[in-house]
Amino acid sequence: MARRRWPLIPSSEITPESVYLNRRQFMKGLALGAGALALAGCATPPEPTSTPTPAAATPVAQATAAPGLLPPPDAAPVASAQADELGDALTSHEAATTYNNFYEFGMGKDDPARNAKDFVTSPWTVQVGGLVGKPGTFGVEDLIRQFPPEERIYRLRCVEAWSMVIPWLGFPLAKLLQAVEPASDAKYVRFETLLDPQRMPGQRSGWYDWPYVEGLRLDEAMNDLAILSVGLYGKMLYPQNGAPIRLVAPWKYGFKSIKSIVKIDLVAEPPASLWMKAAPNEYGFYANVNPDVPHPRWSQATERRIGEGGRRETLPFNGYAEQVAGLYAGMDLQANY
Ligand code: MTE
Repeated sequence: MARRRWPLIPSSEITPESVYLNRRQFMKGLALGAGALALAGCATPPEPTSTPTPAAATPVAQATAAPGLLPPPDAAPVASAQADELGDALTSHEAATTYNNFYEFGMGKDDPARNAKDFVTSPWTVQVGGLVGKPGTFGVEDLIRQFPPEERIYRLRCVEAWSMVIPWLGFPLAKLLQAVEPASDAKYVRFETLLDPQRMPGQRSGWYDWPYVEGLRLDEAMNDLAILSVGLYGKMLYPQNGAPIRLVAPWKYGFKSIKSIVKIDLVAEPPASLWMKAAPNEYGFYANVNPDVPHPRWSQATERRIGEGGRRETLPFNGYAEQVAGLYAGMDLQANY
């Protein structure tokens, strides 16, 4: 897993957005020449498959930010590397910020970027409580000061069988949980998204049991891979990506990575998530990426990497088995989907 402390030092390793865009244009031309049909249904034009492009000549200047805080979402995107630890190229900044799932802002992939454009995410507090010794309400800016974000380049595998590689900025969830001192009977962590149908128009629909809720077992939440993300591509999150703070648990299907969190509770029982309530036979509590357990309506053996043509094999635990498989020793992963 690639990780770096923020702020990222711009270097010749960094690919500016313009280079991604040029590359995309170039590949678009190629793809159209090679057969435009390959693009049908793709939200973004394909990009090179595996080999990262050579280092960009022009470094991106680090955008200025308030001391200790991240640059604003519209600052120039930066990343410390062009690929993850497997050599998979980063998904373009454009695709990562315009092809989203955030049902509070609509169900189409491009709805969140459009409908969440004016969603105000500052000031914002996260209430942390339940079975803890030191409950508290934390301002996101204070969290960023207390737990300086680091870059984590992670694959994101959606249960819908598409995937991306995203350079997140965040801090280990464990740090916040340790700060509130979990009680001995705390076994699970329950996360809740803001409930505000005025500002989140999708919540006016009766299709789902709002607010969006997700959960982790406490030992999963304490695993170093689990982060609370406050940014991507070297700057604050756009609203469509779950600003100002969202979970990222990269070995699980993307729906576990709950956005725009306002409440975190330590609890004794597994919390029922929005998706478990909506379709219990399709979405379980664990939701670990598993090519051997098909979704009832489609296979999970392969995935479409956004920006690439074709499909690639899905890796157990999304390629993070070494770090997390031990959490599930002795468990039946077919039954605990
Ligand atoms: N969180 C909330 N509150 N609402 C959502 O609809 N969608 C989930 C997850 N977190 C969702 C959410 C799904 S299905 C995925 S795949 C990821 O967010 C997508 O994250 P991204 O748009 O930043 O790629």
